[in-house]
Amino acid sequence: MQKPKRHIFVCGSFRMSGEAQGVCAKKGGMRLLQYMENEIADRGMAGISVSSTGCLKVCDRGPAMIIYPENWWYGKVESESAIDEILDALEEGKPAGNYLMS
Ligand code: FES
Repeated sequence: MQKPKRHIFVCGSFRMSGEAQGVCAKKGGMRLLQYMENEIADRGMAGISVSSTGCLKVCDRGPAMIIYPENWWYGKVESESAIDEILDALEEGKPAGNYLMS
């Protein structure tokens, strides 16, 4: 197995019970995760693993995601165009300023 160079963790709002109950799921986080995976494949971006997570504890800024190893935290990622902007910036090696949490 080849280890990925980069991980994208998308909040799936999962709680200890296993249910997705938080803001990110209610705002379509899992639909956006699927879109992101498809878009990464379409763009031929190699070495990236995308995973859903439990609540990232920034619910008021959801849907939320993190890109490692850069440690870029994104919030209010509510549309496919936001994902496009984040991936465009990632391909350029920089963060997408419009969604970056400070
Ligand atoms: S539900 Fe996504 S940060 Fe809490």
